[in-house]
Amino acid sequence: MIERPRGTRDLGPDEMTYRNYVEDQLRATCESYGYRAIQTPMFEHTKLFKEKSGPSIIEEIYAFKDKGGREIALRPEFTASVIRMYFQEMREVPKPVKIYYFGSAFRYERPQAGRYREFWQFGTELIGADTPYADAENIALAYNCISILGLTDIKLKISNLNILSDFLEENGVGKKEKLEVYHLVDKGEFDEIRDTFDYGDMLCKLIQSDLSEAKKYLKESSSISYLEKVTDLLSLYEIGEKDYSIDLSTVRGLDYYKGVVFEIEAERLGAEKQICGGGDYQLGDIFGGEITSKGFAIGFDRTILAMKEENIELEKKENRYYIIPIEEENKTYAYEVLKSLRDKNIIADIDLKGRSIGNAIGYADKSGFSHVILLGEEEVKSEEVSVKDLSTGKQESVEKKEFLENK
Ligand code: HAM
Repeated sequence: MIERPRGTRDLGPDEMTYRNYVEDQLRATCESYGYRAIQTPMFEHTKLFKEKSGPSIIEEIYAFKDKGGREIALRPEFTASVIRMYFQEMREVPKPVKIYYFGSAFRYERPQAGRYREFWQFGTELIGADTPYADAENIALAYNCISILGLTDIKLKISNLNILSDFLEENGVGKKEKLEVYHLVDKGEFDEIRDTFDYGDMLCKLIQSDLSEAKKYLKESSSISYLEKVTDLLSLYEIGEKDYSIDLSTVRGLDYYKGVVFEIEAERLGAEKQICGGGDYQLGDIFGGEITSKGFAIGFDRTILAMKEENIELEKKENRYYIIPIEEENKTYAYEVLKSLRDKNIIADIDLKGRSIGNAIGYADKSGFSHVILLGEEEVKSEEVSVKDLSTGKQESVEKKEFLENK
């Protein structure tokens, strides 16, 4: 038996119905904010990800040489590809450019609950607007996407990387050490920070403070005022102080972030609880250009897990009809009803195996159909359909014309 590769999943029809519903909700929400869908290749030149995503992503990447000897990598995320696409295809498009995407990404990680080697991201990028309004819109959209799905047990954490960056610069720290410190903060290694750096203790105090207290640790506090402005603007989206926390330990794992960053966690998921992450970043320099951009990616699989933990059901279950012609000579009538339903995009199927009525009803019930339509001599004669609701067992005869018109 050949099994699927480690860290991948097969997704059955029930799971896909749920996922498609979530995808539709997310697409509709992004479209309502003026974002438009794009698609980029599933593999890119490895160099694209090597440049800026940080050392951890390189260890976690699926990279190989293709038959032409080119260094190729399966995308571990979309942001670098989107900015490549922007420089290659969209430079002339009026700013801001608002785009969203959905697809699978690949990381060579140790699989566990909520962490896979193939997983799906739903993300957005807002290119070419460097204002607190753009940061606020970015966070608001992410929060709105998660809320619209009905998730309530969530935590939104917001920070501005410039606060830590300014503190480190004021303490004479260079670029390389800065990244080292960010990685330690990201991993929560505060004891190591205190032991390794002479400013470590002060840095840990800064991280634990709220915004008014944080000002004490900085000579220049414009990064704090900027974050205050962004959080003020969130109220325009009806996101209030009860909905988020300022958490200066939120530094993000990828090295391209530079300003306001945020993460959303689903409390019930345990170790892998981050369902969304994003913020302001700089990737244009890989392409010899300067462009400011902000975005986020929702971990689609973890979001689904979180929704199931919160017992969130699909809003509306579609009716699915299974047609059972009682006698062979009534097939034409049965196929007419089948085609009429399908022409209206109503889910309808017909017995293909010549089962007995009892077996056909049993099959329909087990296969997720909501109704069976029984069609025999009587129905043909009176131009009716007999519809049985499989959840209640109730059966009624309706005029065929009326039944189809009401669909
Ligand atoms: P990220 O935090 O690396 O950010 O990934 C975003 C989300 O993808 C995570 O919050 C998590 O839910 C999900 N995720 C990551 N790795 C896995 C995995 N192995 N299995 C399941 N889910 C996973 C980014 O990728 C950035 N590109 C986000 C962004 C867009 N920043 C700006 N624009």
